[in-house]
Amino acid sequence: MHLETERLLMPPLSGEHTGALAEVYADRDVARYIGGATLDPEGTAAQVARFEVVRREHGFGQSALLDRNTGAFLGRAGLHPWPQWGEVELGYVLARDAQGRGLAAEAARAWLDVAFGELGLRRLTAVIHPANTPSRALAGRLGFRVHREEVTPAGVRVLVHERHAS
Ligand SMILES: CC(C)(COP(=O)(O)OP(=O)(O)OC[C@H]1O[C@@H](n2cnc3c(N)ncnc32)[C@H](O)[C@@H]1OP(=O)(O)O)[C@@H](O)C(=O)NCCC(=O)NCCS
Repeated sequence: MHLETERLLMPPLSGEHTGALAEVYADRDVARYIGGATLDPEGTAAQVARFEVVRREHGFGQSALLDRNTGAFLGRAGLHPWPQWGEVELGYVLARDAQGRGLAAEAARAWLDVAFGELGLRRLTAVIHPANTPSRALAGRLGFRVHREEVTPAGVRVLVHERHAS
């Protein structure tokens, strides 16, 4: 699925993006609430491989976020299943330099349209560490509300936000 927005090209995230994504994760402020130490180059490659399996099995997954003008890699956004909870999450990560421009919201809205449109999903979640203020603010702007607390398989307490199709 090749999505596009006004400022972004959003091709499927794949192995060719692993190095650029690992550089984004190398910024501690970016990786703090999304797996931090596990996202070294090897961990990033394993994560990208998992995302590709999800795409093959579910027909949705993560997009690379590329600057439409320069082609620069800015981050990732997309859908990811949490089978243990029977839910699909909308997630987003931006390189620090790309934050504060509304780009994560732009990418997330493109995925919301796909999820509630052609994929026919009725509900999405956003799984967010309670202290991740920028992510919670973005989720709120996108119409997500806190649904419940959970502990992830990695033992991290998170707030599961939800949004229904309108
Ligand atoms: C979560 C994250 C993606 C949010 O990024 P973001 O850039 O703040 O989010 P948005 O795309 O909604 O941009 C909003 C900001 O852009 C500003 N902005 C500038 N131009 C804008 C425009 N044209 N449209 C909308 N907002 C714009 C807004 O004022 C806002 O800034 P503020 O927070 O200083 O008020 C980012 O903090 C991140 O990557 N964090 C690390 C990874 C992570 O934790 N991901 C979430 C896991 S749950």
